[in-house]
Amino acid sequence: MTKILKATKNNLIKAKELLLNGELVGFPTETVYGLGADGTNKRAVSEIYKVKGRPSDNPLIAHVHKDYDLTKLVKNIRPYALDLIKAYTPGPLTLVFESKGVVVDEATCGLNTLAIRMPEKKEAQELLKMVDIPIVAPSANLSKHVSPVTAEHVYNDFNGKIPLIIDGGKCEGGIESTVLDVTGEVPEILRAGLITKEMIEKVVGACKVAVHKEGEKAKSPGVMYTHYRPRTETALFTIDEIEKGLALYEKYVKEGKKPYFMCDESVAEKLVGKNLLSLGKTDKEIASNLYYKLREGEEKADIIIAIEPNGSNGIYEGILNRLRRACR
Ligand code: TXA
Ligand code: MG
Repeated sequence: MTKILKATKNNLIKAKELLLNGELVGFPTETVYGLGADGTNKRAVSEIYKVKGRPSDNPLIAHVHKDYDLTKLVKNIRPYALDLIKAYTPGPLTLVFESKGVVVDEATCGLNTLAIRMPEKKEAQELLKMVDIPIVAPSANLSKHVSPVTAEHVYNDFNGKIPLIIDGGKCEGGIESTVLDVTGEVPEILRAGLITKEMIEKVVGACKVAVHKEGEKAKSPGVMYTHYRPRTETALFTIDEIEKGLALYEKYVKEGKKPYFMCDESVAEKLVGKNLLSLGKTDKEIASNLYYKLREGEEKADIIIAIEPNGSNGIYEGILNRLRRACR
C-alpha cells in the first residue's frame, strides 16, 4: 500500500504530484524524516494531525527550498535573522517569524508566528524546488514515538496510511533541527539541536534559551509533550551510576531476558561481552545514531539501559534532552 521509492527525478515528480494533490509524502532531511503536506491546503494539513495522532495545539514547521522568497510567508524579518540564514541555512535550523497567514491556521495552530526551515539534504532541496510551495512537515513518526531516521522507520509507523515515502538513506544529523524564535530583539532557542547556542552567538552576539516551567504554556508547544519514546522498557543512568545499570542488566539476564546497554564508545569499551547499542564517539556521531539505536533497541531488547554520554557543548544539550525524555 505504501511505496518506498528512491529519490530519482521521476520518483520526485511522483512525490510532487501527490503533494500538490493534497496527499501526504514521507521524505528525508538531514535531521530526521518528515511527513510532508501542502501547507496552504487545510484538508491536507488536517490529515497530518489525524495520521500522526498529533495534539491539535502543536504547530508544524514549513519547509521551503533555499532560494524561496521568505517574505511571501513572513513579515518583520530582523537583520540578525538574515545573518543567521546566511550562516546556517540550508541546514538544521528552524526560525520562528511573524506569519503572513499564507500557511494555513491548521498548521500554525492559530499562533501569529510561523516556523520555517530550509533543509540541506539534496533530495529535500530537489523536492522543495519542484513544488515551490511551503511543505509543512513534522517528524514522520506516530505522535510520541521515536523520530525516524530511515525510510523503513517511516514505513513501520505509517504503512497503509500514506501513499509514498522517498528513500534518501539514513539521515546524517539524527536529531531534529534547532528551533529558534527570531521575533524578539534577542533570539531564543525553543528546542536544542545541531545548530548550538555557541554557533548562534558567534553570528548574533547574544542568544537566550527558553526554560519551560511545569504547567506553563511553552513557547514551542511540542516540547511539552512526551516524545521520542521507544516501545520497550528503558532506564537511564549517569556514568557515576554505572553500577546500578550493571545490577539491572544482571537482573534481566537472570530472568532469561535480553537487556541492552546504550552508551557512547568510551563506556562501551568498559562493557565488553555485554549486549550493546553503541552510539559512537563524537558528539555528531552520537546525535546521528541516537534515534537509530533507540529503534534498534525497540526491536531486540527487553530493556534499554542507557548511560548518559558525557560532554558539555550545545550538541550534548540536544542529545541529553532527547535521551532523558525517551527514557523517562
Ligand atoms: O528537523 C526537524 O525540525 C524535523 C524535520 C522533518 O524538518 N521536523 C520536526 O518537526 O522535528 P516536529 O513537528 O516534530 O517538531 C516541530 C517543533 C515542535 O516542537 C513545535 O512545537 C515547534 O517546532 N514549532 C512549530 N511551529 C512553531 C511556532 N510557530 N512557534 C514555536 N514553536 C513552533
Ligand atoms: Mg517530532
